[in-house]
Amino acid sequence: MKQIVVLASGRGSNFQAIVSAIQEDNIRAQCIALISDNPLAVAVDIARDANIPAHVLDFLSFPDKSAYEEALLYLLVQLNPDIIALAGYMRLLGDSIIQTFPDSIINIHPSLLPSFPGLHAQEQALRYGVKIAGCTVHFVTKDMDNGPVIMQRSVPVLDDDDKEHLADRILVEEHKALPEVLRLICEDRIRREGRKVTVLKNPSGFP
Ligand code: GAR
Repeated sequence: MKQIVVLASGRGSNFQAIVSAIQEDNIRAQCIALISDNPLAVAVDIARDANIPAHVLDFLSFPDKSAYEEALLYLLVQLNPDIIALAGYMRLLGDSIIQTFPDSIINIHPSLLPSFPGLHAQEQALRYGVKIAGCTVHFVTKDMDNGPVIMQRSVPVLDDDDKEHLADRILVEEHKALPEVLRLICEDRIRREGRKVTVLKNPSGFP
């Protein structure tokens, strides 16, 4: 069974979706740890309620970003997960971590990348005036929100949308997409060639 570590900074609803999917046996994997850079993250409470070890690396208690990254890398190497899922983790991962876990780190982002990378993606989409928004699960590379796309799910943008309503509707799709991608990875059904990611139709490897 594959071992997953989740990184989350805040509310943790995507983390909860992963935990529920594992508990319901939709993902055949073990979540071996939750790591948060924020001691106040609700995700930490979710982990504790689910008996998942929670590690808090309080970003503000480190002298600088490189010291934080070093501690995070050390912890990840100790945990040695098969998959690292960024679920509302609001920091850029350093190169050393990305290089240590090649093709093993995925992120969920609340826009249809490559549109609207970075912060406040839903607000960016509204301001731009797009008619379709959504979420993207992608592999993490050294450039922010730029790795190969694994899965996207869309929602219409309504004429009277505001950023909260749009974000809520995108979040519903995030809670489907992230567990679904983890399920496929755990079934060894994701293949990447360059930027192109394909999903094998069945676990035997025959499309
Ligand atoms: C989610 O919408 C996630 O896509 C976004 O933060 C939110 C976290 O919610 N992540 C990013 O913007 C990363 N660039 P959650 O803590 O309830 O999962």
